[in-house]
Amino acid sequence: RMLKRQIACRSDINRMNGAFLATFQSLIPPEEERTKQKQLLALLDGIVSKEWPDARLYVYGSCANSFGFSKSDIDICLAIEDANIDKSEVLLKLADMLQSGNLQNVQALTRARVPIVKLMDPETGISCDICVNNVLAVVNTKLLRDYAQIDVRLRQLAFIVKHWAKSRGVNETYQGTLSSYAYVLMCIHFLQQRRPAILPCLQGMEATYSVTVGNIECAYFDKVEKLYGFGSQNGESLARLVWAFFSYWAYCHDYANDVISIRSGSTVSKRGKDWTRRIGNDRHLICIEDPFEVSHDLGRVVDKFSIRVLREEFERAAEIMQYDPNPCVKLFEPY
Ligand code: GTP
Ligand code: MG
Repeated sequence: RMLKRQIACRSDINRMNGAFLATFQSLIPPEEERTKQKQLLALLDGIVSKEWPDARLYVYGSCANSFGFSKSDIDICLAIEDANIDKSEVLLKLADMLQSGNLQNVQALTRARVPIVKLMDPETGISCDICVNNVLAVVNTKLLRDYAQIDVRLRQLAFIVKHWAKSRGVNETYQGTLSSYAYVLMCIHFLQQRRPAILPCLQGMEATYSVTVGNIECAYFDKVEKLYGFGSQNGESLARLVWAFFSYWAYCHDYANDVISIRSGSTVSKRGKDWTRRIGNDRHLICIEDPFEVSHDLGRVVDKFSIRVLREEFERAAEIMQYDPNPCVKLFEPY
């Protein structure tokens, strides 16, 4: 078993807090972007309802989970009740209608893992991806948004981590590194592990929200207004948490045996999930359990090469946070 190396944090860490908060502030989207998103959504709604009057559009991903930067693309899900539809047919039809509706760069990608139509709205300059009946993504978007409301430090930390990952080139699933969604799950897991805990485990509490998607039951406590102040026993600053986050993934996480699981509020064993060996393309070198689709490992994209890149980046970040006089600059240096 890997040695868990605990390092004492530098004593001047809280002096860096202002710089991290300022970085966070600079990444938050301005209010007028929301207005533009709503404008585009209304336009799309008008187009879609002509062909599918009972269908609904849901925004998911970073524009709805509160972890979106300024100028993010919008992820939209077209929900059609009819179970007999052919997704590719719907997407091709939709692409046709969007084209006639003066949207630009319309492209149907029907063979992708998640088939989508891409488009750009010349009016607002916003790009978006529309998928069909991807209800789980809409539900996990709500879960992330609900967690973000419990303690502001989650949103702050996740923005810093996403910004770091994008700057360092380790937010590219096609190159074997992790999705933004995976990084946010890592942040939630990490804050559930702090002592005192900064976040609770919503799926471990009495369910106040419940939907069934296919054969998956998604249930958790969503009355988050009752949980404001949950983490107030823990006074750690953002800078301290950034330090501890990187130190955790660099030196403390047991990659060989543990799966991170926000569903359980802790880690579960790889052995218990039979994630100890390679099956097909799934190598399980870093294991991040999807909160609802528990057989889904968000780390499945990581391979023998990219796990090294990833862990070296965690170590680099941990060292900067421990020793650099100006960590907020060095951390985000382009690779
Ligand atoms: P940015 O676009 O980088 O700002 O982040 P994002 O929050 O939109 O995340 P991302 O593009 O990684 O994923 C979009 C949404 O797809 C997530 O919020 C999830 O709701 C959903 N999703 C479900 N399963 C997966 C998965 O295996 N990989 C990814 N990437 N997304 C998933
Ligand atoms: Mg996105």
